[in-house]
Amino acid sequence: MKPKVLVTKRVYPEAIEILERHAEVEYVNSDDGLPPAELLSRARGKQAVVSQLTDQFTPDVLAALEGVRVIANVAVGFDNIDVPAATERGILVTNTPDVLTDTTADFAFALLMAAARRVVEGHAFVHSGRWRRWEIDMLVGQDVHHSTLGIFGMGRIGQAMARRGLGFSMRVLYNDAVRVPPEVERELNAEFVTKERVLREADFVSLHVPLLASTRHFIGEPELRMMKPAAVLINTSRGPVVDEAALARALAENWIAAAAIDVFEREPQVHPGLLNRANAVLTPHIASASVATRKRMSTMAAENALAALEGRRPPNLLNPVVWDSATSRRGA
Ligand code: DGY
Repeated sequence: MKPKVLVTKRVYPEAIEILERHAEVEYVNSDDGLPPAELLSRARGKQAVVSQLTDQFTPDVLAALEGVRVIANVAVGFDNIDVPAATERGILVTNTPDVLTDTTADFAFALLMAAARRVVEGHAFVHSGRWRRWEIDMLVGQDVHHSTLGIFGMGRIGQAMARRGLGFSMRVLYNDAVRVPPEVERELNAEFVTKERVLREADFVSLHVPLLASTRHFIGEPELRMMKPAAVLINTSRGPVVDEAALARALAENWIAAAAIDVFEREPQVHPGLLNRANAVLTPHIASASVATRKRMSTMAAENALAALEGRRPPNLLNPVVWDSATSRRGA
């Protein structure tokens, strides 16, 4: 008998083709997302769930997921899944790392450039038909080259961002809970400094930390007030890492020059103080959205789910302890 898989939301069709070769698939071919009760009722009788970052796997939801052996998230981030609670229940959890590293860093850098050089304002101005003449200081912005890039979170995406900064002759400062190895610091010409120094010295502050209890509102009023008045904040990590109300005030009162934000505290809602602000470049959580990357994220999640169902260790396993204890039980 084929194993049963629930796919909670629309993915690239290649992922469904892969799954259907080996499993019976219930595919919710919609972008709406399932409310928790429906997620649970559809998951009944399934051994795998291919999920997205909008599906919330709280301890309560996980407790009610009978028979599910693996949750394969179509995202590198997994703050929508309580991994320790899944681990306790023996449920494997996987994500889709690496494939989106450069794609996301490209976009973070595009946001940085857009905010620094006022690309969106220029675009809107020309489209409005209000452009009448060339002016010496029309829409003047800030130089990116030879400026200072501050990075919070020097994981894969943070490092890819630093690499892009190097290409623009930027000085790179970073802070993270863990310092990267010296050879990586050398390659990226990146200096490990305190959080406060990143905030005080960087012209561009780019966020690449995961969402954890310790990084919720990692950037709030005190941090925004430490930044330079000409600084730009870029967020492609997770919305709740920034206190949006504080950011709205910072932009309104010019504590900082601009922000370029792809992720929000209560997506798809956006703090009203950020909307329609010339110094806020806002995009709808699309940093990893290239065709190739989103397609590959979809197929990676399918492969992770199938591996688990077929008794192979999933390539992108987040809680190996579940796998190891199941393997040692089988061996015993
Ligand atoms: C992720 O993968 O975590 C992104 O936020 C969506 O690509």
